[in-house]
Amino acid sequence: MTKISLVLSFLFLAASGFAYGSVKKEDIKVFDLKKGDISLKVTNYGATILSLVLPDKNGKMVDVILAYRSLMDYTNDTSYFGATVGRVGNRIGGAQFTLNGIHYKLPANEGNSTLHGGIIGFSDVLWKVKKYRREGPNPSITFTYHSFDGEEGFPGDLLVRVSYTLYGKNQMSIIMKAKALNKPTPVNLLNHAYWNLGGHNSGDILNEQVQIFGSKTTPLDSNLIPTGKFASVKGTPYDFLKPHVIGSRIKQVSETNGYNVNYVIDGKKGKINRAAIAYDNKSGRAMEIWTNAPGVQFYTSNYLGNVKGKNGAVYKDHGALCLETQAFPDSVNHPNFPSTIVSPGKDYKHYMFFKFSTKAPRGFT
Ligand SMILES: *[C@@H]1O[C@H](CO)[C@@H](O)[C@H](O)[C@H]1NC(C)=O
Ligand SMILES: *[C@@H]1O[C@H](CO)[C@@H](O)[C@H](O)[C@H]1NC(C)=O
Ligand SMILES: *[C@@H]1O[C@H](CO)[C@@H](O)[C@H](O)[C@H]1NC(C)=O
Repeated sequence: MTKISLVLSFLFLAASGFAYGSVKKEDIKVFDLKKGDISLKVTNYGATILSLVLPDKNGKMVDVILAYRSLMDYTNDTSYFGATVGRVGNRIGGAQFTLNGIHYKLPANEGNSTLHGGIIGFSDVLWKVKKYRREGPNPSITFTYHSFDGEEGFPGDLLVRVSYTLYGKNQMSIIMKAKALNKPTPVNLLNHAYWNLGGHNSGDILNEQVQIFGSKTTPLDSNLIPTGKFASVKGTPYDFLKPHVIGSRIKQVSETNGYNVNYVIDGKKGKINRAAIAYDNKSGRAMEIWTNAPGVQFYTSNYLGNVKGKNGAVYKDHGALCLETQAFPDSVNHPNFPSTIVSPGKDYKHYMFFKFSTKAPRGFT
Protein backbone atom coordinates (compact mmCIF):
# COMPACT_ATOMS: atom_id res chain seq x y z
CA MET A 1 0.00 0.00 0.00
CA THR A 2 1.33 3.44 -0.88
CA LYS A 3 1.63 6.24 1.68
CA ILE A 4 -1.15 8.16 0.00
CA SER A 5 -3.58 5.29 -0.04
CA LEU A 6 -2.77 4.67 3.62
CA VAL A 7 -3.52 8.27 4.49
CA LEU A 8 -6.71 8.01 2.46
CA SER A 9 -7.78 4.87 4.24
CA PHE A 10 -7.21 6.58 7.60
CA LEU A 11 -9.28 9.53 6.43
CA PHE A 12 -11.95 7.07 5.36
CA LEU A 13 -11.84 5.35 8.74
CA ALA A 14 -11.93 8.69 10.55
CA ALA A 15 -14.85 9.87 8.40
CA SER A 16 -16.80 6.69 9.14
CA GLY A 17 -16.33 7.30 12.88
CA PHE A 18 -14.13 4.28 13.14
CA ALA A 19 -12.96 3.49 16.69
CA TYR A 20 -9.49 2.18 15.96
CA GLY A 21 -8.16 5.10 13.93
CA SER A 22 -5.49 5.61 16.59
CA VAL A 23 -3.64 2.40 15.67
CA LYS A 24 -1.22 3.23 12.90
CA LYS A 25 -0.25 0.66 10.34
CA GLU A 26 3.45 1.19 11.05
CA ASP A 27 2.92 0.26 14.71
CA ILE A 28 1.56 -3.17 13.80
CA LYS A 29 4.53 -5.52 13.58
CA VAL A 30 4.97 -9.15 12.57
CA PHE A 31 7.32 -11.55 14.37
CA ASP A 32 8.25 -15.04 13.31
CA LEU A 33 9.52 -18.02 15.26
CA LYS A 34 11.09 -21.05 13.70
CA LYS A 35 12.03 -24.45 15.03
CA GLY A 36 12.61 -27.57 12.95
CA ASP A 37 9.56 -28.10 10.79
CA ILE A 38 7.36 -25.52 12.52
CA SER A 39 7.12 -21.82 11.89
CA LEU A 40 4.85 -19.40 13.66
CA LYS A 41 3.96 -15.79 12.85
CA VAL A 42 2.41 -13.48 15.42
CA THR A 43 1.66 -9.78 15.66
CA ASN A 44 1.64 -7.27 18.51
CA TYR A 45 -1.89 -6.24 17.44
CA GLY A 46 -3.99 -8.27 19.88
CA ALA A 47 -1.00 -10.59 20.54
CA THR A 48 -2.46 -12.51 17.63
CA ILE A 49 -1.36 -15.68 15.78
CA LEU A 50 -1.14 -14.97 12.05
CA SER A 51 0.09 -18.32 10.80
CA LEU A 52 1.44 -21.70 11.84
CA VAL A 53 3.07 -23.83 9.18
CA LEU A 54 3.20 -27.58 9.83
CA PRO A 55 4.20 -30.63 7.77
CA ASP A 56 1.68 -33.26 6.70
CA LYS A 57 2.30 -37.03 6.53
CA ASN A 58 4.22 -36.55 3.25
CA GLY A 59 6.28 -33.65 4.55
CA LYS A 60 4.19 -31.06 2.71
CA MET A 61 4.19 -27.75 4.59
CA VAL A 62 0.88 -25.95 4.99
CA ASP A 63 -0.43 -23.07 7.07
CA VAL A 64 -3.20 -24.33 9.38
CA ILE A 65 -4.35 -20.96 10.83
CA LEU A 66 -7.04 -18.74 9.32
CA ALA A 67 -5.99 -15.09 9.01
CA TYR A 68 -6.92 -11.89 7.21
CA ARG A 69 -5.32 -10.77 4.01
CA SER A 70 -3.92 -7.59 5.56
CA LEU A 71 -2.90 -6.46 9.02
CA MET A 72 -5.30 -3.51 8.87
CA ASP A 73 -8.20 -5.97 8.56
CA TYR A 74 -7.53 -6.91 12.18
CA THR A 75 -8.59 -3.43 13.27
CA ASN A 76 -12.18 -4.08 12.13
CA ASP A 77 -12.24 -7.81 12.77
CA THR A 78 -15.38 -9.41 14.18
CA SER A 79 -14.17 -13.04 14.20
CA TYR A 80 -11.23 -12.62 16.64
CA PHE A 81 -9.01 -14.63 14.26
CA GLY A 82 -6.03 -15.95 16.26
CA ALA A 83 -6.31 -13.21 18.85
CA THR A 84 -5.63 -13.04 22.56
CA VAL A 85 -9.07 -12.33 23.98
CA GLY A 86 -9.70 -10.55 27.31
CA ARG A 87 -10.03 -9.09 29.90
CA VAL A 88 -12.91 -11.58 30.04
CA GLY A 89 -13.17 -13.84 27.02
CA ASN A 90 -16.51 -15.38 25.99
CA ARG A 91 -19.79 -13.86 27.23
CA ILE A 92 -20.95 -11.96 30.32
CA GLY A 93 -24.75 -12.06 30.47
CA GLY A 94 -26.58 -8.75 30.81
CA ALA A 95 -23.22 -6.95 30.47
CA GLN A 96 -22.93 -6.67 34.24
CA PHE A 97 -21.80 -8.29 37.45
CA THR A 98 -21.50 -7.58 41.16
CA LEU A 99 -18.22 -8.09 42.98
CA ASN A 100 -17.71 -7.45 46.71
CA GLY A 101 -20.96 -5.46 46.81
CA ILE A 102 -20.03 -3.20 43.89
CA HIS A 103 -22.13 -3.35 40.74
CA TYR A 104 -20.20 -3.06 37.47
CA LYS A 105 -21.91 -2.14 34.20
CA LEU A 106 -20.00 -3.09 31.04
CA PRO A 107 -20.49 -2.10 27.43
CA ALA A 108 -22.77 -4.59 25.66
CA ASN A 109 -21.39 -5.52 22.25
CA GLU A 110 -23.53 -8.56 21.41
CA GLY A 111 -27.22 -8.06 22.18
CA ASN A 112 -27.35 -7.47 25.93
CA SER A 113 -24.11 -9.33 26.59
CA THR A 114 -20.46 -8.38 26.71
CA LEU A 115 -18.55 -10.60 24.30
CA HIS A 116 -14.77 -11.15 24.37
CA GLY A 117 -13.81 -8.25 26.61
CA GLY A 118 -16.10 -5.55 25.20
CA ILE A 119 -15.91 -3.05 22.38
CA ILE A 120 -12.11 -2.68 22.45
CA GLY A 121 -10.90 -5.81 24.18
CA PHE A 122 -7.33 -7.09 24.43
CA SER A 123 -7.67 -8.39 20.85
CA ASP A 124 -7.85 -4.79 19.62
CA VAL A 125 -4.95 -3.14 21.42
CA LEU A 126 -1.24 -2.95 20.71
CA TRP A 127 0.88 -5.06 23.02
CA LYS A 128 4.51 -4.42 23.98
CA VAL A 129 7.18 -6.92 23.02
CA LYS A 130 9.12 -7.95 26.13
CA LYS A 131 11.29 -10.81 24.86
CA TYR A 132 11.83 -12.13 21.37
CA ARG A 133 14.01 -15.08 20.41
CA ARG A 134 13.43 -16.02 16.80
CA GLU A 135 15.40 -19.26 16.61
CA GLY A 136 17.34 -21.69 18.81
CA PRO A 137 16.15 -24.56 21.02
CA ASN A 138 13.10 -22.66 22.35
CA PRO A 139 12.10 -19.80 20.09
CA SER A 140 9.76 -17.56 22.04
CA ILE A 141 8.04 -14.20 22.13
CA THR A 142 6.45 -12.48 25.11
CA PHE A 143 3.89 -9.69 24.80
CA THR A 144 2.72 -7.52 27.69
CA TYR A 145 -0.23 -5.19 28.12
CA HIS A 146 -1.21 -2.85 30.96
CA SER A 147 -4.99 -2.69 31.16
CA PHE A 148 -6.14 0.36 33.08
CA ASP A 149 -8.71 0.63 35.89
CA GLY A 150 -12.13 1.00 34.26
CA GLU A 151 -11.04 -0.19 30.82
CA GLU A 152 -14.20 -1.59 29.17
CA GLY A 153 -15.86 -1.23 32.58
CA PHE A 154 -13.62 -3.70 34.45
CA PRO A 155 -12.20 -2.88 37.91
CA GLY A 156 -8.54 -2.25 38.62
CA ASP A 157 -5.27 -2.11 36.72
CA LEU A 158 -4.24 -5.47 35.30
CA LEU A 159 -0.82 -6.45 33.96
CA VAL A 160 -1.11 -9.13 31.30
CA ARG A 161 1.58 -11.24 29.69
CA VAL A 162 1.28 -13.72 26.82
CA SER A 163 4.16 -15.95 25.64
CA TYR A 164 4.29 -18.08 22.54
CA THR A 165 7.04 -20.73 22.56
CA LEU A 166 8.05 -23.50 20.15
CA TYR A 167 9.67 -26.43 21.91
CA GLY A 168 10.40 -30.16 21.71
CA LYS A 169 9.42 -31.84 18.49
CA ASN A 170 6.53 -29.98 16.86
CA GLN A 171 5.15 -28.48 20.04
CA MET A 172 3.93 -25.01 20.93
CA SER A 173 2.89 -23.45 24.20
CA ILE A 174 0.84 -20.37 24.87
CA ILE A 175 1.17 -19.11 28.43
CA MET A 176 -1.04 -16.29 29.66
CA LYS A 177 -0.51 -14.57 32.99
CA ALA A 178 -2.22 -11.66 34.70
CA LYS A 179 -1.57 -9.69 37.85
CA ALA A 180 -4.21 -7.48 39.49
CA LEU A 181 -2.46 -4.34 40.76
CA ASN A 182 -5.09 -2.75 42.98
CA LYS A 183 -8.59 -4.32 42.79
CA PRO A 184 -10.05 -7.78 42.37
CA THR A 185 -11.34 -8.35 38.85
CA PRO A 186 -12.71 -11.18 36.73
CA VAL A 187 -10.15 -12.50 34.22
CA ASN A 188 -10.60 -15.05 31.46
CA LEU A 189 -7.89 -14.85 28.81
CA LEU A 190 -8.12 -17.13 25.82
CA ASN A 191 -6.61 -17.66 22.40
CA HIS A 192 -9.06 -17.63 19.51
CA ALA A 193 -7.12 -19.51 16.83
CA TYR A 194 -9.21 -20.86 13.96
CA TRP A 195 -7.65 -24.19 12.95
CA ASN A 196 -7.97 -26.13 9.77
CA LEU A 197 -5.49 -29.00 9.94
CA GLY A 198 -5.94 -29.63 6.22
CA GLY A 199 -4.72 -26.10 5.54
CA HIS A 200 -6.32 -22.69 6.11
CA ASN A 201 -7.60 -22.67 2.53
CA SER A 202 -8.62 -26.32 2.20
CA GLY A 203 -12.40 -26.03 2.54
CA ASP A 204 -14.49 -27.04 5.53
CA ILE A 205 -13.58 -29.06 8.63
CA LEU A 206 -16.71 -31.24 8.56
CA ASN A 207 -14.66 -34.35 7.68
CA GLU A 208 -12.03 -33.68 10.35
CA GLN A 209 -12.32 -35.63 13.58
CA VAL A 210 -12.37 -34.41 17.14
CA GLN A 211 -12.13 -35.95 20.57
CA ILE A 212 -13.04 -33.75 23.55
CA PHE A 213 -12.24 -34.95 27.06
CA GLY A 214 -15.33 -33.44 28.67
CA SER A 215 -18.31 -35.46 29.82
CA LYS A 216 -20.40 -32.36 30.58
CA THR A 217 -21.19 -29.05 28.92
CA THR A 218 -22.51 -25.78 30.32
CA PRO A 219 -25.74 -25.46 28.28
CA LEU A 220 -26.88 -22.08 27.04
CA ASP A 221 -30.03 -19.99 26.96
CA SER A 222 -31.24 -18.26 23.79
CA ASN A 223 -28.68 -15.43 24.30
CA LEU A 224 -25.83 -17.99 24.41
CA ILE A 225 -25.41 -17.40 28.16
CA PRO A 226 -25.00 -20.50 30.39
CA THR A 227 -28.10 -21.42 32.34
CA GLY A 228 -25.80 -22.39 35.24
CA LYS A 229 -26.70 -26.07 34.90
CA PHE A 230 -24.47 -28.87 33.64
CA ALA A 231 -25.55 -31.34 30.97
CA SER A 232 -24.12 -34.81 30.40
CA VAL A 233 -22.99 -35.36 26.81
CA LYS A 234 -24.09 -38.99 26.99
CA GLY A 235 -26.32 -39.99 24.10
CA THR A 236 -26.15 -36.50 22.51
CA PRO A 237 -24.39 -35.06 19.45
CA TYR A 238 -22.08 -33.29 21.95
CA ASP A 239 -20.46 -36.58 22.97
CA PHE A 240 -16.87 -36.50 21.68
CA LEU A 241 -15.44 -38.63 24.49
CA LYS A 242 -14.53 -41.00 21.67
CA PRO A 243 -13.40 -39.47 18.38
CA HIS A 244 -16.16 -38.45 15.96
CA VAL A 245 -16.23 -36.86 12.54
CA ILE A 246 -17.27 -33.23 13.20
CA GLY A 247 -19.92 -33.14 10.49
CA SER A 248 -21.59 -36.42 11.41
CA ARG A 249 -24.03 -34.93 13.96
CA ILE A 250 -23.59 -31.18 13.46
CA LYS A 251 -27.15 -30.71 12.14
CA GLN A 252 -28.54 -32.01 15.45
CA VAL A 253 -26.96 -29.44 17.79
CA SER A 254 -29.05 -26.67 19.32
CA GLU A 255 -26.78 -23.67 18.61
CA THR A 256 -27.15 -21.87 15.29
CA ASN A 257 -25.35 -23.56 12.40
CA GLY A 258 -23.01 -25.81 14.38
CA TYR A 259 -21.19 -26.35 17.66
CA ASN A 260 -20.63 -23.36 19.94
CA VAL A 261 -20.49 -24.63 23.49
CA ASN A 262 -18.23 -24.92 26.51
CA TYR A 263 -17.12 -28.36 27.72
CA VAL A 264 -16.15 -29.05 31.32
CA ILE A 265 -12.76 -30.73 30.97
CA ASP A 266 -12.56 -34.03 32.85
CA GLY A 267 -9.47 -34.57 34.98
CA LYS A 268 -7.94 -32.96 38.02
CA LYS A 269 -8.95 -29.39 38.88
CA GLY A 270 -6.14 -26.89 38.33
CA LYS A 271 -3.77 -29.53 36.91
CA ILE A 272 -2.62 -29.78 33.31
CA ASN A 273 -5.25 -32.00 31.68
CA ARG A 274 -5.75 -33.14 28.14
CA ALA A 275 -8.61 -31.09 26.67
CA ALA A 276 -9.01 -32.26 23.10
CA ILE A 277 -7.53 -33.87 20.00
CA ALA A 278 -8.24 -32.86 16.42
CA TYR A 279 -7.23 -34.96 13.43
CA ASP A 280 -7.42 -34.57 9.67
CA ASN A 281 -7.00 -38.01 8.15
CA LYS A 282 -6.50 -36.61 4.65
CA SER A 283 -3.30 -34.73 5.50
CA GLY A 284 -2.51 -36.85 8.56
CA ARG A 285 -2.09 -33.74 10.75
CA ALA A 286 -3.09 -34.16 14.39
CA MET A 287 -3.19 -31.69 17.25
CA GLU A 288 -3.49 -32.47 20.94
CA ILE A 289 -4.29 -29.69 23.44
CA TRP A 290 -3.42 -29.75 27.15
CA THR A 291 -4.37 -27.04 29.65
CA ASN A 292 -4.93 -26.10 33.28
CA ALA A 293 -8.15 -24.27 32.33
CA PRO A 294 -11.43 -25.84 33.48
CA GLY A 295 -13.22 -25.50 30.13
CA VAL A 296 -12.84 -25.64 26.37
CA GLN A 297 -15.12 -23.93 23.87
CA PHE A 298 -15.78 -26.00 20.78
CA TYR A 299 -16.80 -23.70 17.94
CA THR A 300 -17.18 -24.71 14.31
CA SER A 301 -16.92 -21.25 12.71
CA ASN A 302 -20.66 -20.94 12.33
CA TYR A 303 -20.74 -17.35 11.11
CA LEU A 304 -17.77 -16.88 8.79
CA GLY A 305 -19.88 -16.13 5.72
CA ASN A 306 -17.33 -15.11 3.11
CA VAL A 307 -14.38 -13.64 4.95
CA LYS A 308 -11.50 -12.53 2.74
CA GLY A 309 -8.41 -14.28 4.04
CA LYS A 310 -4.70 -14.33 3.36
CA ASN A 311 -3.32 -15.46 0.00
CA GLY A 312 -6.66 -14.97 -1.73
CA ALA A 313 -8.54 -17.44 0.47
CA VAL A 314 -12.25 -16.94 1.07
CA TYR A 315 -13.36 -18.50 4.34
CA LYS A 316 -16.87 -19.89 4.56
CA ASP A 317 -18.94 -21.26 7.44
CA HIS A 318 -17.25 -24.36 8.97
CA GLY A 319 -13.96 -23.35 7.36
CA ALA A 320 -12.19 -23.94 10.67
CA LEU A 321 -12.59 -25.29 14.17
CA CYS A 322 -11.85 -23.49 17.43
CA LEU A 323 -10.93 -25.28 20.64
CA GLU A 324 -10.49 -22.38 23.04
CA THR A 325 -9.41 -23.41 26.51
CA GLN A 326 -11.00 -21.06 29.02
CA ALA A 327 -12.92 -20.48 32.23
CA PHE A 328 -16.64 -21.22 31.89
CA PRO A 329 -18.56 -18.42 30.14
CA ASP A 330 -20.30 -15.89 32.41
CA SER A 331 -18.55 -17.38 35.47
CA VAL A 332 -18.70 -14.03 37.22
CA ASN A 333 -22.51 -14.40 37.40
CA HIS A 334 -22.55 -18.09 38.41
CA PRO A 335 -21.28 -18.76 41.94
CA ASN A 336 -21.39 -22.53 41.22
CA PHE A 337 -18.76 -22.16 38.44
CA PRO A 338 -15.01 -22.08 39.27
CA SER A 339 -14.18 -18.50 40.25
CA THR A 340 -12.52 -16.22 37.70
CA ILE A 341 -11.76 -13.49 40.23
CA VAL A 342 -8.10 -12.49 40.32
CA SER A 343 -7.07 -10.46 43.36
CA PRO A 344 -3.90 -8.49 44.08
CA GLY A 345 -1.26 -10.94 45.32
CA LYS A 346 -2.80 -13.95 43.60
CA ASP A 347 -1.84 -14.13 39.94
CA TYR A 348 -3.73 -15.70 37.05
CA LYS A 349 -2.05 -18.38 34.93
CA HIS A 350 -3.43 -20.12 31.86
CA TYR A 351 -1.29 -22.78 30.20
CA MET A 352 -1.95 -24.19 26.73
CA PHE A 353 0.23 -26.92 25.24
CA PHE A 354 -0.23 -27.95 21.61
CA LYS A 355 1.36 -31.18 20.37
CA PHE A 356 1.32 -31.64 16.62
CA SER A 357 2.00 -34.88 14.79
CA THR A 358 1.42 -36.61 11.48
CA LYS A 359 0.19 -39.92 12.84
CA ALA A 360 -3.36 -41.00 13.64
CA PRO A 361 -3.81 -40.57 17.40
CA ARG A 362 -5.13 -43.63 19.26
CA GLY A 363 -8.75 -44.35 18.42
CA PHE A 364 -8.76 -42.25 15.23
CA THR A 365 -9.10 -43.67 11.73
C1 LIG B 1 -12.43 -3.78 7.16
O1 LIG B 1 -12.95 -2.70 6.42
C2 LIG B 1 -12.47 -2.61 5.10
C3 LIG B 1 -12.98 -1.32 4.50
O2 LIG B 1 -14.36 -1.23 4.64
C4 LIG B 1 -12.91 -3.87 4.32
O3 LIG B 1 -12.40 -3.83 3.02
C5 LIG B 1 -12.39 -5.11 5.04
O4 LIG B 1 -12.85 -6.27 4.40
C6 LIG B 1 -12.81 -5.09 6.49
N1 LIG B 1 -12.17 -6.17 7.18
C7 LIG B 1 -12.83 -6.98 8.00
C8 LIG B 1 -12.01 -8.02 8.66
O5 LIG B 1 -14.01 -6.90 8.23
C1 LIG C 1 -32.22 -7.07 26.07
O1 LIG C 1 -32.92 -6.96 27.29
C2 LIG C 1 -34.20 -6.38 27.13
C3 LIG C 1 -34.77 -6.16 28.54
O2 LIG C 1 -34.66 -7.32 29.31
C4 LIG C 1 -35.06 -7.27 26.26
O3 LIG C 1 -36.34 -6.69 26.08
C5 LIG C 1 -34.37 -7.47 24.91
O4 LIG C 1 -35.11 -8.39 24.13
C6 LIG C 1 -32.97 -7.96 25.10
N1 LIG C 1 -32.28 -7.96 23.82
C7 LIG C 1 -31.58 -9.00 23.37
C8 LIG C 1 -30.95 -8.84 22.04
O5 LIG C 1 -31.46 -10.01 24.01
C1 LIG D 1 -11.04 -40.76 7.05
O1 LIG D 1 -12.04 -40.93 8.03
C2 LIG D 1 -13.33 -41.23 7.51
C3 LIG D 1 -14.30 -41.24 8.66
O2 LIG D 1 -13.86 -42.03 9.72
C4 LIG D 1 -13.26 -42.56 6.76
O3 LIG D 1 -14.52 -42.82 6.21
C5 LIG D 1 -12.21 -42.49 5.68
O4 LIG D 1 -12.06 -43.74 5.09
C6 LIG D 1 -10.88 -42.04 6.25
N1 LIG D 1 -9.92 -41.80 5.18
C7 LIG D 1 -8.68 -42.24 5.23
C8 LIG D 1 -7.79 -41.85 4.10
O5 LIG D 1 -8.27 -42.93 6.15
